[in-house]
Amino acid sequence: MTTTIPVWVQLAYLAAAVCFILALKGLSSPKTARRGNLLGAVAAAGATVVVFFQDPDGMDHVPLILVAIAIGTAAGFIGAYKVQMTQMPQLVALFNGVGGGAAALVALLELHEILENGDESTAIIKIATVFTIFVGAVSFAGSAITFAKLQELMTTRPVVFPGLPIAFGGSFVAAIAIAIVIVNDPNILLGVLLGILGLAIGVLLVLPVGGADVPIVISLLNAFTGLSVAAGGYVLGNTLLLVAGTLVGASGTILTLLMARAMGRSVANTMFGALKGGSTLGAGVASDRPVKSANPEDVAIMLNYAEKIIIVPGYGLAVAQAQHSLRELVEVLQERGIEVDYAIHPVAGRMPGHMNVLLAEAQVPYEQLIEMDEINSEFKNTDVVLVVGANDVVNPAAKTTPGAPIYGMPILNADEAHQVVFMKRSMRPGFAGIENELLFDPKTTLLFGDAKDTMGKLLNAVKAL
Ligand code: TAP
Repeated sequence: MTTTIPVWVQLAYLAAAVCFILALKGLSSPKTARRGNLLGAVAAAGATVVVFFQDPDGMDHVPLILVAIAIGTAAGFIGAYKVQMTQMPQLVALFNGVGGGAAALVALLELHEILENGDESTAIIKIATVFTIFVGAVSFAGSAITFAKLQELMTTRPVVFPGLPIAFGGSFVAAIAIAIVIVNDPNILLGVLLGILGLAIGVLLVLPVGGADVPIVISLLNAFTGLSVAAGGYVLGNTLLLVAGTLVGASGTILTLLMARAMGRSVANTMFGALKGGSTLGAGVASDRPVKSANPEDVAIMLNYAEKIIIVPGYGLAVAQAQHSLRELVEVLQERGIEVDYAIHPVAGRMPGHMNVLLAEAQVPYEQLIEMDEINSEFKNTDVVLVVGANDVVNPAAKTTPGAPIYGMPILNADEAHQVVFMKRSMRPGFAGIENELLFDPKTTLLFGDAKDTMGKLLNAVKAL
């Protein structure tokens, strides 16, 4: 409901909105990300405090609200503190989902209020209300499924069943019909039904998405949450929610498009590809085909006599926490006059910028991290590519196997180098669950073991030469 908002509150909201924009700017570079994050958090906390002083007499249930805030803060704090870096996307999915769910619940309460006040609201307010209920519910349920997929509480492979397109289409048409009825004649039960349909659509939307595409969906749902929060802000007459929601919606949309481009697929193909029979290939089990393996001493000799080496870091580097010994190894090799660079694939790891953050933490100079487009032409002149805990980002199936979950994703051209060394623990596939032909190539050598352990041994072996 729009009420007169005191000037000091408007100014506080304006300051918070400016902080959110500066926070986003800060988050765009690893050097300033920490500061940006802190700025955004302080602005959000400040804006929450302002709500309590804006109209203290008009606020009911303050103790209950404070208890809810305390529980939410404790859960968020403990969750964020305990979570491993590699589990960050799940955490983002969870936070994003509860944001959408909260917006949907607030909009349901607002619908109740519209009825209490004798339905005097404008059609636009009612449209924004049903939009928030629906999109917020889609975002909540969709995020819960992405969480379950990433946490491996359910299969990461696309889940499709014969009636899925009909169930999806039918629920969508029913939701639009109910929304139209509510706008013309508000009804709280229909509002709840709309929310339930939103939950069902959220589940049906995400089930067919294969594991490798889940990050794109998290980003898309993030944009959905932003839009529902913005619409909720409009309904409540809260400018800051409107601004913050719009920022999240816009940045989520841009990130979705950038990630889809980095994986070489359209957003529509990501969401609905499995329904057309694509995105479902892949064994997902360890292969027993013969490979060539070596010990750290053999690989040390190979590296020591190379002139040019490219390191391809991936998810396993983060799991093993081998980034510090990797940096040390690279420094030793560089001191011996060998040219060494790190090749950074945009979706290596499990979150955007994962490798940049990991290597920055190990004090690797930023200039040594070369983006995929820039380094891809270098592989053919490279003596050894050292692939540390990466798999999908160098899998040639992305170029050669139509129907593979990663088909069309641009990859690092490690297959063009003279020799390739993979550091991994077993013959298990990567995130996409498919075999990597490069592992069986005659020019490839495998150095088996946990990357932290083998990297330490490799470092000692190189130093001993
Ligand atoms: P993956 O293809 O997932 O391969 C990781 C490799 O690391 C596996 O071969 C695994 O083999 C190895 N590994 C795991 N733990 C290890 C350890 N302790 N020591 C040594 N090796 C270890 O990783 P990638 O090449 O970085 O590709 C990323 C994949 O994740 C892509 O499919 C991408 O689409 C997807 N994804 C990306 C994101 C973003 S935005 N970056 C988010 C979610 C998903 P072993 O098990 O045999 O050791």
